[in-house]
Amino acid sequence: MPWTPKTTTPVLTKRIPCAPHGDPKNRHIVRYDEYVRTGGYEGLRKALTMAPDAVVAEVKDCGLRGRGGAGFPTGLKWTFLPKHDPANPQPRYLAINADESEPGTFKDRLLLDFDPHLLLEGIAIACYACRLTKAYIYIRGEYHHQAMVLEEAIKEAYAHGVFGPQGLLSGASNAGGEKWSVECHVHRGAGAYICGEETALLESLEGKRGWPRIKPPFPAVKGLFGRPTIINNVETLAHLPSIIENGKQWFLNQGVQGSAGTKLFGVSGHVNKPGLFEFDLGIPLSTLVNQYCGGMRHGKKFKGAIAGGISTGILGPDQFDAEMDFGIGPKYNVLGLGTACPTIFDEDTDMVVVARNLARFFKHESCGQCTPCREGSGWLYQLMTRIERGEGRTKDLDLALEISTSMGAMPGTTICGLADGNNWAVRTIINKYRDEFESRVRPTFVAVTVGAG
Ligand SMILES: Cc1cc2nc3c(=O)[nH]c(=O)nc-3n(C[C@H](O)[C@H](O)[C@H](O)COP(=O)(O)O)c2cc1C
Ligand code: SF4
Repeated sequence: MPWTPKTTTPVLTKRIPCAPHGDPKNRHIVRYDEYVRTGGYEGLRKALTMAPDAVVAEVKDCGLRGRGGAGFPTGLKWTFLPKHDPANPQPRYLAINADESEPGTFKDRLLLDFDPHLLLEGIAIACYACRLTKAYIYIRGEYHHQAMVLEEAIKEAYAHGVFGPQGLLSGASNAGGEKWSVECHVHRGAGAYICGEETALLESLEGKRGWPRIKPPFPAVKGLFGRPTIINNVETLAHLPSIIENGKQWFLNQGVQGSAGTKLFGVSGHVNKPGLFEFDLGIPLSTLVNQYCGGMRHGKKFKGAIAGGISTGILGPDQFDAEMDFGIGPKYNVLGLGTACPTIFDEDTDMVVVARNLARFFKHESCGQCTPCREGSGWLYQLMTRIERGEGRTKDLDLALEISTSMGAMPGTTICGLADGNNWAVRTIINKYRDEFESRVRPTFVAVTVGAG
């Protein structure tokens, strides 16, 4: 049965005409006045009439899962914070992950480029609900323009009573029963992929080298500057205003079971019209490509796709119809939905070159703290390079699989998820295109002594 969208009007991109909803050339930055004129900050106003715990409960019950890659339930994460004590108020933080360094991922960028107040409203709601005092937007260094757009929007938000001592719409006595105010800052990164990992991000925010921290303690208990901290992705937070305004059932009605809501899908690679789209979770990849991206480039055949960022692994030639939702991992033998930004490969793609390229990425981005990741990523790159040059042996394929599996299979042997991302990327590409790899390697001969006796 052909896929039909449940959500016919965009939620996150309603102020941003983007394919297929409008002409991308007509986009402009939505300033505070236009944002408010088109219903902006209504979600925050409603949240302020609710007790903070009720806002947390609404987010928990609506089934929102993090849009940064791991898909962790947002409301549940919020409940890990220690209880706020009004008699002894202490700093607690929100760190907004706008690092967006996953190759092929360009979804948060659209929101930052054109509708910054949607994120700011989400930030204000999260801080009100979780009793957080300061928000730091950690934005990747290359997003220079987006950082300036955000700075301007934050100034507007301060001037209009969202942030600052006279902020949260100046509700001296909101339903929290306690006057609450939030400060919001932008912090620019310096271009390291690993700083998107939440604890590396915190280290970087503290002015240190972006090295992931050993967990526990988890950031909700001991995060930024040793204080309770929530880390959420830009797109996750951008969902909050409409969830609070329309209620949990409205959100649950979108998407599919276990994957509520709409999602931004950024499609790149060998398609006629690459672009960013907002659809219900659950849209088949083939529908995205054929119906909305103008089909495969030059009418070529689909060969595979990076599922949702390079760390999630590869969808094989027979997985074009994979439903893009949080159930994709076990169903199609990939790590997960990731950022839902697939890169499409056509029949002419050399998968060995793809494997060498992605292995190089992980080797370059490994922070080097953990031996399996530091050494394994280097070995995998060497093996893939050797195979690409035609100098590999069959045993190199098995060795590559053994190394990658050892990097991901034993939880606790590495500090963060980068090593497992490397594992999924290399392992799935070898397994799903084994014939192509085999045709590039020479058989491994066993030495036999001839002529004795
Ligand atoms: C190596 C690595 C890089 C990551 N990069 C990003 C990133 O650029 N943006 C992001 O939001 N999450 C990234 N994550 C996931 C974060 O650690 C974290 O799960 C996420 O920001 C939580 O927000 P969410 O629950 O709203 O999705 C990365 C994780 C790893 C292991
Ligand atoms: S898994 Fe890799 S990137 Fe992550 S902390 Fe260890 S060495 Fe660094």
